Amino acid sequence: MKVLVIVAHPTIEKSVVNRAWLEEIRKHPDITVNELYKEYPNEQIDITREQRLCEEHDRIVWQFPFYWYSSPPLLKKWQDEVLTHGWAYGTNGNKLHKKELILAVTTGSAKERYQAGGRNQYSMSELLKPFQATSNLIGTKFLPAYLFNGTYTALDEEIKESAKEYVNYILARDIFE
Ligand SMILES: Cc1cc2nc3c(=O)[nH]c(=O)nc-3n(C[C@H](O)[C@H](O)[C@H](O)COP(=O)(O)O)c2cc1C
Repeated sequence: MKVLVIVAHPTIEKSVVNRAWLEEIRKHPDITVNELYKEYPNEQIDITREQRLCEEHDRIVWQFPFYWYSSPPLLKKWQDEVLTHGWAYGTNGNKLHKKELILAVTTGSAKERYQAGGRNQYSMSELLKPFQATSNLIGTKFLPAYLFNGTYTALDEEIKESAKEYVNYILARDIFE
């Protein structure tokens, strides 16, 4: 299982959770790390490189901090530019078919705020629907997201543990077993 993690964090040096995750995934030879904000400081995405990377892997992970109930903008730009007609969807657009897609998302708000009646009113599953719809269109299998809610109040130990759990999760042979 070849895993590609596409990390989109605009201020990774100030990050706590995504940085801990990044340090952990870098230790694993079966994981390719593609840090978008480091790779493209001027935000000019090399579409050929990105498509080649996706083609070479079986499982793709989009790792990001939740910003305004979505991803930071460079991951959206990546989707707009890399997921092209004839490659990701449309006639003969089958290059990602049968690959797996996992979202790995951190949120400032605590878990209980992401539910009906909670401060954010909606669950993470509801808020992540646009990603699921994208996955449907490009023919990837949308696996359950790996979530870390409540980054503002997280303890060091919890973050450390989640980094290990995260790696195990994205490397697991069959996530539904
Ligand atoms: C521009 C911006 C928008 C944010 N929007 C949300 C949001 O919609 N929901 C939420 O729970 N947290 C939100 N946050 C908090 C981040 O999700 C949180 O700081 C991040 O997940 C922490 O991860 P890190 O330690 O890797 O930076 C936002 C933060 C920023 C800077």
